[in-house]
Amino acid sequence: MSVTGTTRQKMPADILAMKGGAPIVCLTAYTTPIAKLVDSHCDLVLVGDSVGMVLHGLPSTLGVTMEMMILHGQAVARGLSNALMVIDMPFGSYEESPAQAFRNASRLMAETGAGAVKLEGGAHMAETIAFLTARGIPVQAHIGLTPQSVNTLGGYKVQGRGDSRARLVKDAKAVADAGAFSVVLEKVPQGLADEITAMVAIPTVGIGAGAGCDGQVLVVDDMLGLFTDFKPKFVKRFGQLGQEAEAAVADYAAEVRDRSFPAAEHSFADEVKK
Ligand code: KIV
Ligand code: NA
Repeated sequence: MSVTGTTRQKMPADILAMKGGAPIVCLTAYTTPIAKLVDSHCDLVLVGDSVGMVLHGLPSTLGVTMEMMILHGQAVARGLSNALMVIDMPFGSYEESPAQAFRNASRLMAETGAGAVKLEGGAHMAETIAFLTARGIPVQAHIGLTPQSVNTLGGYKVQGRGDSRARLVKDAKAVADAGAFSVVLEKVPQGLADEITAMVAIPTVGIGAGAGCDGQVLVVDDMLGLFTDFKPKFVKRFGQLGQEAEAAVADYAAEVRDRSFPAAEHSFADEVKK
């Protein structure tokens, strides 16, 4: 059952059509059960390269590979029937040239069934975005804080303040003009995000960009309280699943140690009664 309207799975054109309307609800997912859980509530589900940090314990997203994205993308695809599935292009898979980007984006889509790819970068990625969209690959852009560039940005800082404000406006315009169907704004001051949202004809999806964007996205493990190594300011924990899970594990350990688990109801009789 879809709570968001259509019965077929959403396509990039459906997301584009939501510009300026009801906010676009997005979450990440990396596995089938979580994809099933979020599907009817979301318009767009992102297989984010955040998977590397959230599920694989990597220190940043730079170590995420095509193989990891494909494996998680396949798992997520099996759990979706409503939301558009977008898959992140991992670091090193698209920056070299439009041809490299097409080779890897087409592989991600063909092997996972994703309806679109996302890649990081503004004006300098415009040529690649145009190249992909002209060849059948819908692209969601991602500007502002682009975590794959953490080493050149000098940390996970707010982007677009002061001198860099004009550059971010140019980036938004460039990716929209290049044909992106949507753009993620990460860690951008809300006034600037509002300005960009009013300026471009494609939906902005914010994460740490204020309530004025056309949509919002969060990392699902962050909002569920499952990933607790750190909490960016823009994350709200809507659940405390990590705490619940740990309490459950502690109960299990105690019951194994005092032999109250397994109980008779979890055990098998030697003979079945006739
Ligand atoms: O990888 C990811 O989860 C993302 C979102 C935070 C936008 O790129
Ligand atoms: Na990402």
